[in-house]
Amino acid sequence: MLQIPHVPVMLDEVKAVFEPIKDGYLIDCTMGYGGHSHALLSQNNSLRVIGCDRDEEAVEFSKKRLKEFGERVTIEHKNFSSIVGKYEHLPIHGILADIGVSSLQLDSNGRGFGFDSLTLDMRMDTTQTLSAYEVVNSYPKNELERIFRDYGELKEYKKIARLICDKRDKSPIKDAKTLADLVGRRGHFNGRSVSPATLVFQAVRIEVNRELEELEELLASIEKSKITDCIVCIISFHSLEDRIVKQTFRAWAKSCICPPENFRCECGNNHSLGEIITKKALEPTQEQIKANPRSRSSKLRAFYKRHT
Ligand SMILES: C[S@@+](CC[C@H](N)C(=O)[O-])C[C@H]1O[C@@H](n2cnc3c(N)ncnc32)[C@H](O)[C@@H]1O
Repeated sequence: MLQIPHVPVMLDEVKAVFEPIKDGYLIDCTMGYGGHSHALLSQNNSLRVIGCDRDEEAVEFSKKRLKEFGERVTIEHKNFSSIVGKYEHLPIHGILADIGVSSLQLDSNGRGFGFDSLTLDMRMDTTQTLSAYEVVNSYPKNELERIFRDYGELKEYKKIARLICDKRDKSPIKDAKTLADLVGRRGHFNGRSVSPATLVFQAVRIEVNRELEELEELLASIEKSKITDCIVCIISFHSLEDRIVKQTFRAWAKSCICPPENFRCECGNNHSLGEIITKKALEPTQEQIKANPRSRSSKLRAFYKRHT
């Protein structure tokens, strides 16, 4: 029996979003441990899933877990920014991206994502070269400031960069635990109890894995693809990602793309790619958060892409 190391977030909501799909393919951009894909394949016998993940361990796991669905499933070790272009010639009627870190990544002491990790790594794809160790120990101070300001939204970004530089001047920061203790595991941010360590780790992880660029490239690849009659569903875990998804879906829904200063429409008023399905982002219920506290910051947005 396989021990499933990750609880899929907002599973019922994801199933409901994709319920209208009759047949064809769904691309699961973040296969992880196969939780969402398993439920969607079980819900609809005529559906096929093409999945990818940049984490080889997740790919191997989900291949085993979804074996029962035979040829209905294909899984690749890949970044999601390049998956849509590869399969756009197929009848793709669903695209799911549950972006973020899996529980197995967070809980593995050797991966460097958790505060008590024995390494400073944070690579989702362990075949890539840039790791958290290089970012923390060799980025110039101004680059550290940039990532803490832009990706951690930390007010004290200068102070934290200075703390790290002073420490690493004496000896390199070798593990996640040392970094978490240095920047502080307790504190408040925007009235919420988010510790500086949480935001520093978020910032370093985003930098190491190019998380925002990957999301922007995925959305751009969907926009320019030939795919039509397709439900796109993105689950994000922090406001930077959610903002990108929200703004992109708004832009896709817009029919008139004339500059706001125009008195009259000159663009043809026919630029909408489809409709936003979730007027407001869906969030997990209190019950779901209780059962899986890691789901608490998740937001789900969905769009129906009708046109190219
Ligand atoms: C929250 S987990 C997904 C869990 C999955 N939905 C399930 O039910 O088991 C996120 C996964 O996305 C993967 N991931 C994150 N960014 C990625 C990217 N740019 N390309 C491919 N996989 C990515 C991570 O490696 C991780 O396994």
